[in-house]
Amino acid sequence: MAWNDNRHVITVADPAALAKAAADRIMARIEANPGRAAICLTGGSSPRQLYQLLASDAYRGRIPWDHVHWFIGDERFVPATDPLNNMAMARRIFLDACAPADNIHRIPTDLADPDQSARQYESELKSYYGAGVLNPARPLFDLVLMGVGPDGHTASLFPDYPAIEETERWVVGVPQAHVEPFVPRVTLTLPALGSCREMLFEVAGAEKRAILTRVLEGENLPAGRTYSLGQTLWLVDKAALPENFRGR
Ligand code: 6PG
Repeated sequence: MAWNDNRHVITVADPAALAKAAADRIMARIEANPGRAAICLTGGSSPRQLYQLLASDAYRGRIPWDHVHWFIGDERFVPATDPLNNMAMARRIFLDACAPADNIHRIPTDLADPDQSARQYESELKSYYGAGVLNPARPLFDLVLMGVGPDGHTASLFPDYPAIEETERWVVGVPQAHVEPFVPRVTLTLPALGSCREMLFEVAGAEKRAILTRVLEGENLPAGRTYSLGQTLWLVDKAALPENFRGR
C-alpha cells in the first residue's frame, strides 16, 4: 500500500515472515551493488530474528561477506560487551561468525562521553564515504534498518529532543534517553540515516499497533519524519497493522 510517493507499507503474516522479507530485501540491495555494500543495522528486539536468519545456511552462503560493510544507526552508551549494546547483539547473533572484523563499524563507547563517540563515528562514516558532504546522487548506505519505539522514536531520535532537528552533523550524542534503557545514546541524524537507497522499518506485534497508527496518521513523530532519499518501506506484521489499514 502506498503511503505517499516513496513510502510504502508492506504487510506480512507474522514475525517469521517479516524477518524473511527483510533478509530478502537486504540480499537484493547487496546484489544490486557491484562494489562494496553498506548496511546500517538497528538495535532493539525487532531485528533479532532477521539477524539469526542472516547467519543461517539459507543466507550465510549467499552473502559476499568481504564486500559488505555493517554499520549501526544508534548505540546505547555502554561498554561494547554489555548486553544492552546494540552492535554487541548483532555481533553475537551473526556478525562475529560471518563478517570480517574490518567490515564491522561499531560506534565506540569507550570514550569520555557520547558526544566524543558521535564525533569519532562521524569521522569514520565520512572516511568510508570518501567525502564530508552527503551527495543525494550517491547515498551513504545501500540499506538502513529501523525500528519504532512506543513513543514514536526511531534510532535514538526521541520526540522533542534536539537531535531530531539536526541538519548538519551526521552523528550526535544524546545525553539522556526518553525510554528504557535509560542510558545515554549516540545516534545518526536524519540527514545521515536518510542518505540510503532503501530504508526498512520492521514493526511486529500488537503492542506496536497504537504507535504505528499515530505514525501512519501523520503525527509529528521522529519515526514518521525519518525516511530515505530513495525508497522507504514499512514491513508490518498483521498483529501490528492498525484497524483502519486492514483490508486495504
Ligand atoms: C535502540 C534502537 C531503537 C529501537 C526501537 C524499537 O537502541 O533501542 O535502535 O530505536 O529500534 O526502540 O525497539 P524494539 O525493536 O525493541 O521494539
